Amino acid sequence: MEHIKDNEIYELIKKEIKRQEENLILIASENHASPHVLKTMGTPLSNKYAEGYPFKRYYGGCEVVDEIEHIAIERLKKLFNAEHANVQPHSGTQANLAVYLALLKPGDTILSMKLPHGGHLSHGHKVNAAGKYYRVVQYGVRKDTETIDFDQVRDIAKRERPKIIICGYSAYPRQIDFKTFREIADEVGAYLLADIAHITGIVATGFHPNPFPYAHVVTGTTHKTLRGPRGGFILSTKELAEKIDKALFPGMQGGPLMHVIAAKAVCFKEAMEPEFKTYIEQVIKNSRKLADVLKEKGLRIVSGGTDTHLSLIDLRPLGITGKEAEDLLGIAGIVVNKNTITFDEKPPTITSGIRIGSPCVTTRGMKEKEMEVIANYIYEVISSRSEDKAKEIKQKVKELTDKFPIYKDSFNDL
Ligand SMILES: Cc1ncc(COP(=O)(O)O)c(C=O)c1O
Repeated sequence: MEHIKDNEIYELIKKEIKRQEENLILIASENHASPHVLKTMGTPLSNKYAEGYPFKRYYGGCEVVDEIEHIAIERLKKLFNAEHANVQPHSGTQANLAVYLALLKPGDTILSMKLPHGGHLSHGHKVNAAGKYYRVVQYGVRKDTETIDFDQVRDIAKRERPKIIICGYSAYPRQIDFKTFREIADEVGAYLLADIAHITGIVATGFHPNPFPYAHVVTGTTHKTLRGPRGGFILSTKELAEKIDKALFPGMQGGPLMHVIAAKAVCFKEAMEPEFKTYIEQVIKNSRKLADVLKEKGLRIVSGGTDTHLSLIDLRPLGITGKEAEDLLGIAGIVVNKNTITFDEKPPTITSGIRIGSPCVTTRGMKEKEMEVIANYIYEVISSRSEDKAKEIKQKVKELTDKFPIYKDSFNDL
């Protein structure tokens, strides 16, 4: 077989590695997966068709990938103390849609959190398939505490009789009370789905309560706090196992991505190591430090603080929008995303806030001392509202990132 090296793409990959190395990534949903995880994805496992599930496939030659997927499933069950696990969802969204396909009929009602209060598109937004095929009613947070309004959840549930209630969010910095959600679900005869996409690593290490035994189904992603390959998973009780598996394949997807499933297995093993627990503990400490310093500087932290890897910063005290802050911080080499804050008057394309997360900077070894420096850089840039200041900070960011390399020589062969 003749190999032609595609320099055009390889050069762009090198450019992206350099971007990740030289920027402080504070995107709460991202992480830097280990070289082991990444290299597992670049193997000939990608070539294999394996429609079906381990030891029950529609293709020959699956004896090796059967073993791999079986190991991934067993490790995932152990990590989350789950009765059943499906490691095939290509993403968190696919995982959620498969759960709806398994448990709902078109037109059935979903009760989920509003997007501007921290929910996700796949929880029933009108632009997503979930919003087109199901009837969606939504709860939010309380205005005074900016935490989940359980009175509202209960009232809506009793009135609307949803078939499924979803908890678990994209931009919610506080712990989720799964027990209360389950009580409400039981009162109205609904399933409880906990979407732990963002907090998988935190749940796996015990720094956030496990949704089991309260949730009937749990969905998650492997690429955020769990620090694995890009992908999703579904966990459920034994009773729902067959329905869930059938809904994902053949209901939603075709052949599983065996190279990604192998990388998921590698990430699950990494997540069981004591070092990963130490990592997540530091993620939370770093997240709190970033929020605390910005609070001291006069910014408002939505809900007053954070229990997790992320916080939402209300920029209104400085009179700068989320969009402007995201752009200026980008010039400074600090990558964040604009985010609506609760009861935001600005549209999602502008916003009054930013979401910041600590998983990436913690992976590269940074601790509270560096978080203080980073929070000060953020404040200097957004309070100055000046591109010149942002460029000046960019130099300092480069000096800091040089001291905390991520991949060192791992991709020199590209
Ligand atoms: C709560 C939640 N669920 C699901 C998803 C979807 O994950 P994916 O982007 O893999 O489809 C996300 C992504 O950010 C999320 O935050």
